[in-house]
Amino acid sequence: MVRHRKIVSSQHKHGNNNTGSNSGSGRNSNLFRFSSIWKTVVGFCCLAFAIYVSVLGYLETRVNTPLDEEKAVLETGIFVPERYWGSYRPGVYFGIKSRDPRSPVFGFMWYEIGDTHKGIRHWCDQNDNLMSYGWLRHDGFLFGEQLILDMPLNIVTSFIKTPGVVNGGHWTARINVTSKHNKKTVGLIWYGALDESMGPAAPHSRLWMENGVMKGHTPQLDNFRINFIHEGKLHHTSYSEAVAPGLHLLKEKFYSLLKPSKERYGPIGQLPILQPDAKLNEQNANFVPVQMIVETPFYLDVVYTTEDLPTPPLKGIEYTNEMEMHRMKFDLEFERKFNLDDKYAELDVIIARAALSNMIGGIGYFYGAGRVKSQHTSEPVPYWRAPLYTAVPSRSFFPRGFLWDEGFHGLLIGHWSPQIQMDIAAHWLDLINVEGWIPREQILGVEAVARVPKEFIVQSNAAANPPMLLIQLAHLVRNNPQLFGPGQTLRGTLDRMFPRLQVWLFKFYDVLAWYQWFQSTQKGDEPTAYRWRGREDDGLQLNPKTLTSGLDDYPRASHPSDIERHVDLRCWMYAAADAMATIAFHLFIETTKYEATRDQLGDEELLNELHWSPETQTYADYGLHSDGVKLVRQPAKAPNELSRVVRSVLVPPKPTLVTSAFGYVSLFPMLLMVLKPESPKLGKILEDLDKPELLWSPYGLRSLSKSSPYYMKRNTEHDPPYWRGQVWLNINYLALRALKHYSRAGTYAKRAADLYERLRDNIVRNVLAEYKRNGYLWEQYSGEDGKGSGCKPFTGWTALIVLIMADEY
Ligand SMILES: *[C@@H]1O[C@H](CO)[C@@H](O)[C@H](O)[C@H]1NC(C)=O
Repeated sequence: MVRHRKIVSSQHKHGNNNTGSNSGSGRNSNLFRFSSIWKTVVGFCCLAFAIYVSVLGYLETRVNTPLDEEKAVLETGIFVPERYWGSYRPGVYFGIKSRDPRSPVFGFMWYEIGDTHKGIRHWCDQNDNLMSYGWLRHDGFLFGEQLILDMPLNIVTSFIKTPGVVNGGHWTARINVTSKHNKKTVGLIWYGALDESMGPAAPHSRLWMENGVMKGHTPQLDNFRINFIHEGKLHHTSYSEAVAPGLHLLKEKFYSLLKPSKERYGPIGQLPILQPDAKLNEQNANFVPVQMIVETPFYLDVVYTTEDLPTPPLKGIEYTNEMEMHRMKFDLEFERKFNLDDKYAELDVIIARAALSNMIGGIGYFYGAGRVKSQHTSEPVPYWRAPLYTAVPSRSFFPRGFLWDEGFHGLLIGHWSPQIQMDIAAHWLDLINVEGWIPREQILGVEAVARVPKEFIVQSNAAANPPMLLIQLAHLVRNNPQLFGPGQTLRGTLDRMFPRLQVWLFKFYDVLAWYQWFQSTQKGDEPTAYRWRGREDDGLQLNPKTLTSGLDDYPRASHPSDIERHVDLRCWMYAAADAMATIAFHLFIETTKYEATRDQLGDEELLNELHWSPETQTYADYGLHSDGVKLVRQPAKAPNELSRVVRSVLVPPKPTLVTSAFGYVSLFPMLLMVLKPESPKLGKILEDLDKPELLWSPYGLRSLSKSSPYYMKRNTEHDPPYWRGQVWLNINYLALRALKHYSRAGTYAKRAADLYERLRDNIVRNVLAEYKRNGYLWEQYSGEDGKGSGCKPFTGWTALIVLIMADEY
């Protein structure tokens, strides 16, 4: 294999001082000398081989060796009581677990009896076609309240925690089901499960039922119990102690345990009730579902307690009252932090609260080892097992951590709670390996793996992703200097983070940290140029994707090559150097070299030489490019083959600026504020921004100009356009932030201020209108009619709408 041969030849380069002299000097008639030379040669060869093998082994293990620095996360699990338990399973409609790798997990399923078409609800799934669902309020600490509209059912799920130190405290979850008109018969399932993917590492955990009470034991929690208290008409309760093959198959297991009851229950007839599991004889139960068949209106209090109970558990009316108190406190705190009441109608404020709450309520706690590869590993290898506390872009479609998304999430989360955000960032930075790389997509644990197509699971250590998390960190530090002063808790976290951004020079030469990794692995051929790695031309794509840039199918040079340079990445590097300077400054660390890099990348003459097109008067990528490409259907070659769509190149590519792809990428020198406020290039960008035939729409800035030949074009037969015209909130947020910045001073201040106001109004109006129309925040919005598109709910960076409404950048 090519990959293998490459390693061998590069090793010869390192090892040739041992092996190069093994012939020539050995020709001698003296047998003794010959044999001693021969021995020496053999010795050398053995040594060389041993070095070769160990270097190979060494290189192979680097991709999954953690950076040898103190972990940024100092305390977790039970030592952070107010965040021990939580709704840390964002991929299910309602689930509770603790921030402990071996936590038992709890969750909720439901189905309507008599409606066989709808099926059992468990994982957040777009195909369930729920009218709406999401957190109305969630503080990330003590409580949360969610509304699920599964017509005609109206389900409110909520929880309140009582933190404790010894065994992690207690909580009560409430499930309150009502229906619009007629009474409905519904199956409500609450289950407990043990995560067996931990294997024999958790041998002492158990789960069982006793007199209608769910009981369990783990080494961490000791003995715990769950009592069920209800109000309303209950037809039948059943439970099963079962053995599930894994957390990812709980619904299937549950379904297999249902049998029709022997008795008939009036007009509803036979009920599906839980049966004992035949498998239980061989193994201890790891899955205990309790099913109640109820009639609406009905509510169930699920009361979790451990043995050391300092206060009586919350239930019934006390819970209702306590929830009311939490709601009031939350609303006050929300108003204090975002100040929306005077500026917006009540319904708009409710939507903003829901947007923030879904970002917070979407935070999960994952544990496991991703799969990674490098050029030195012949097969993908497991990363080390690690925890990740992170928000997710979408509970239905992307219920896992994404590196650049998290930087945007952090802007909002950090505004709500710097403490939570610093903890999230610390978890991410602890995932850095000895090369300075952080895997872009985090697929940890069996539940997460089960939701990702196979081809996307393995992460390559050549792949970058914009360093938004670093920029967000600097933003947090700059805006809250008092939290990062000497002696403050968060200062300690920041201190531990820094060596993960930049390691000290006296370390081994090839140990890098995150910032250094970007600067050294993503460089371009020309000085001060940068290039995203990982583009591949398979002959099927209209324009090969650049997944690493975060902008997936945004058109770049049509023929990936090493001469390519990417203007967005160069601007990201400018912003990263600036962020490093800010963070270093707060830590009293020498800032000169970061400032030097920033100033060099901020030098407009250098930038223009690499990326400015005098013809079109726009910034652009550079590379081997042709606009003369199109997708064509290739007839089947043999009778048993299928025809397929491939790319046909009508005009051969040549080295050029890719000016036909005017869009977000062209704006980066403005978006990341690389341009000086007096720059005429800034004036030109602002002028272009305002043109409806290019990027301007009544719903926000389009990702790609209407005038581009790639506008809303499919990338392959199966890939519809994604970043080729749709309006994305994260980039619109950056645009607003930059416009605000340029509106403060400089030649174009007035124009920037005007654009800012209009762009902001357009975005806010459309996102709120779409939410009112269909109950969700969306992944993207159409640049043609403003309709939400892509997946839903998308309460990752689309939730930045809260900061936009609050004028916070
Ligand atoms: C249950 O939900 C209904 C409708 O949302 C509400 O009126 C009622 O007060 C709730 N009951 C409890 C006990 O929370």
